[in-house]
Amino acid sequence: LQQVPIFQGLSEEELLALAPLFTEKKCKKGSILFLEGDPGDAFYLIKTGVVKIYRIDDSKEIILALFRDGDFFGEMSLIHEGLTRSATVETLEATTLFLMKRSVFAQFMEGSPKLCLKLLEATMQRLRKANEQIYDLTFLGVRSRILKIVTRLSDQYGVATAEGILIDVKLTHQQIANMVGTVRESVTKVLLELQEEDIIEVRQKRIILKNPESLQNEMK
Ligand code: CMP
Repeated sequence: LQQVPIFQGLSEEELLALAPLFTEKKCKKGSILFLEGDPGDAFYLIKTGVVKIYRIDDSKEIILALFRDGDFFGEMSLIHEGLTRSATVETLEATTLFLMKRSVFAQFMEGSPKLCLKLLEATMQRLRKANEQIYDLTFLGVRSRILKIVTRLSDQYGVATAEGILIDVKLTHQQIANMVGTVRESVTKVLLELQEEDIIEVRQKRIILKNPESLQNEMK
């Protein structure tokens, strides 16, 4: 739990008190953890793995966020009494989670102003990102939106390698399209362009940012 950003700054004693309140759950790739509209019954922390947070309209999907090791989700319907899950959550890889039941979460939050503040900080960061997404979807063209998501993912999941920054999460073109509000064909076209321009390389569904500077320049 020490590695979890929202728990950083908590004392050893507080962490020890926190640990038994969670139960572990292992899920296969492609498991739906809950659906939009379900009642909120638990708070989730990701021990290892990746999940996508999304909403569906008919057959179209918009991915609101990707979360991985150390990230949390499922707090929104717990904090607001009477509200249901605001989005659906599905694992993109085999994922191990820590779950805290609704009643335990409420008690815990009431007893820990420090944790409330940490959760608020993290939520504000997410709100900033959501504002950014609204801006991008409203004002930017498809190439710029793809460049921005690639930059954002490299900040979130980038690992430095000899060839550049490897975005350590496997994504299909359809999933990238669902993150930037476009169709798969446009993502394929832009990713090919970026490969021809030697800005990125795609290896086994993972993007390597070969030339982060030229990307930064284009974003200015
Ligand atoms: P909850 O509404 O309980 O269930 C879905 C969860 O997805 C929600 O809590 C948040 O944890 C998360 N979530 C919903 N919308 C967003 C968003 N725009 N950005 C990041 N996380 C979100």
